[in-house]
Amino acid sequence: VPASRIRNFSIIAHIDHGKSTLADRLLQVTGTVADREMKEQFLDTLDLERERGITIKLQAARMNYTAKDGQEYVLNLIDTPGHVDFSYEVSRSLAACEGALLVVDASQGVEAQTMANVYLALENDLEIIPVLNKIDLPGAEPDRVAEEIEQVIGLDCSEAILASAKEGIGVNEILEAIVAQVPPPADTTEEPLRALIFDSYYDPYRGVIVYFRVMDGNLKKGDRVKFMASGQEYDIDEIGVLSPVQIQVDQLHAGEVGYLAAAIKTVEHARVGDTITLANHPATKPLPGYVEAKPMVFCGMFPIDADQFEDLREALEKFKLNDAALNYEPETSSAMGFGFRCGFLGLLHMEIVQERLEREYNLNLIITAPSVVYQVTTNKDEVLLIDNPSELPPPMLREKIEEPYVRLDMMTPQEHIGALMELCETRRGDFKDMKYITQDRASLIYEIPLAEIVTDFFNQMKSRTKGYASMEYHIIGYRPNDLVKLDILVNEEPVDSLACIVHRDKAYQMGRGLVSKLKQLIPRQQFKIPVQAAIGSKVLSRENIPALRKNVLSKCYGGDISRKKKLLEKQKEGKKRMKAIGTVEVPQEAFMAILKLN
Ligand code: GTP
Repeated sequence: VPASRIRNFSIIAHIDHGKSTLADRLLQVTGTVADREMKEQFLDTLDLERERGITIKLQAARMNYTAKDGQEYVLNLIDTPGHVDFSYEVSRSLAACEGALLVVDASQGVEAQTMANVYLALENDLEIIPVLNKIDLPGAEPDRVAEEIEQVIGLDCSEAILASAKEGIGVNEILEAIVAQVPPPADTTEEPLRALIFDSYYDPYRGVIVYFRVMDGNLKKGDRVKFMASGQEYDIDEIGVLSPVQIQVDQLHAGEVGYLAAAIKTVEHARVGDTITLANHPATKPLPGYVEAKPMVFCGMFPIDADQFEDLREALEKFKLNDAALNYEPETSSAMGFGFRCGFLGLLHMEIVQERLEREYNLNLIITAPSVVYQVTTNKDEVLLIDNPSELPPPMLREKIEEPYVRLDMMTPQEHIGALMELCETRRGDFKDMKYITQDRASLIYEIPLAEIVTDFFNQMKSRTKGYASMEYHIIGYRPNDLVKLDILVNEEPVDSLACIVHRDKAYQMGRGLVSKLKQLIPRQQFKIPVQAAIGSKVLSRENIPALRKNVLSKCYGGDISRKKKLLEKQKEGKKRMKAIGTVEVPQEAFMAILKLN
């Protein structure tokens, strides 16, 4: 296909505004996927994604479409993940396109995450086609939402397409608009090969499968390629297109989108954002924009049963083959024994990995509370990066602690502005700006420590705004603050995995909150257990978990054996996610208690 008849586009939409439904429709209408094999939401492959209803891994689909002008076009849809944790991947998949559909739910409006992605698209010079979806809903107000898009983004919406992905309304108009408005890729077939990787995943049989867009030159089966950032070279076993199932072809040229397999050992060798070139005839410069994904949030993962340590190591190794952003190192905790300190892009990334480790590898884990990376300057002028609160050097050895800050952008209906401001105040946010987007919706901007965002901020924001607010954030740098390590002592012993780093002004309140939460969460035992919060040797708060008075079995009045069994079973079950710290059984929830403080 000549470049003039290729269109590469992606879909930008807020979660639940209908991106997957629309993608399915486009595949159906173009006959790319026969109706009967149409699995619901074809583009989301991982089960977990489907269950949570979010898109994590991006993929692509090639469609053939005969337009009204009688010509046949190749339309490549490149999917983007729908969560802030993965915004780097979004930026790379947008960089692989010339246009984007901006899908907005006509019964809702523009959300913070949508905005962030629209800005990414504009930075990449994409043509944006507005689509007002869900016009079949009785509450749809396409005119109001069109006006909102114009005001917020400055995008002309006079020709916005009215659509219902669910009912199939507007789908042909969308296809025609893609052909007419999205510019064709530049024909740079004569130049040395440069292809942009926008996704990759590990296949145990064929090695890493790399999804890419050829920007310049062309690529054939059998070529020896070089990944410019990782420096790795491989011979291509297979190239093909995504239709959306993989179909082998002999070559791909500038403008086309496809996949390759080359027995690549790990996704680290072919990372998202890297440039593929020919080993014998390399391009002089890689494509712009490559960044190594850096973990932002860390937690400890400890097997409950020490025998599972090796299984956990193996599972993490396998995961790493498929997830270049995941980071892990062995960690030894005096309280928890052997485990791993793991780094993630964000909280959602962390939850997904945890869940899959437990589900796919049958591991029983205790996960410690998430922590950000602190920058500590010692009194010897060394700079340390601390991702584990228990490793914070004591006050006399340090000169300064700095923590990462983010710019937080929230969008909310006006009646919840007060509640959001209050939340941000309690989270040490610095108010920066507020703008009315429309008469009754506002955008609020704060600069706020990342640590405050990763401790349940999102859920708090949702619950305080009845689910109506949305947020987006990005890191803006490190700032010094008066931070201290808050130690938690259980049964007079400090528990390293419960330590956290907090602002001095909040230490007392948090210490008290944590201690009383732990008192509720740690089950009573045969003896009294003191729980304390302390900074250094100064105890801020103390509570006692009283001893158990009665044995559970004493309620059974002798006789009934099956009832006795049931009680014992129940006890055993409750124990599943417990870790013995000294002689005290501490449940998983206790390690996350800090997330539950208001
Ligand atoms: P993520 O994958 O989480 O990013 O969500 P999404 O944007 O892909 O949304 P999805 O396509 O999963 O749609 C969300 C919900 O809206 C689903 O329950 C769809 O059935 C519904 N939906 C999508 N399009 C329409 C539409 O045109 N009309 C109506 N009434 N419902 C729709």
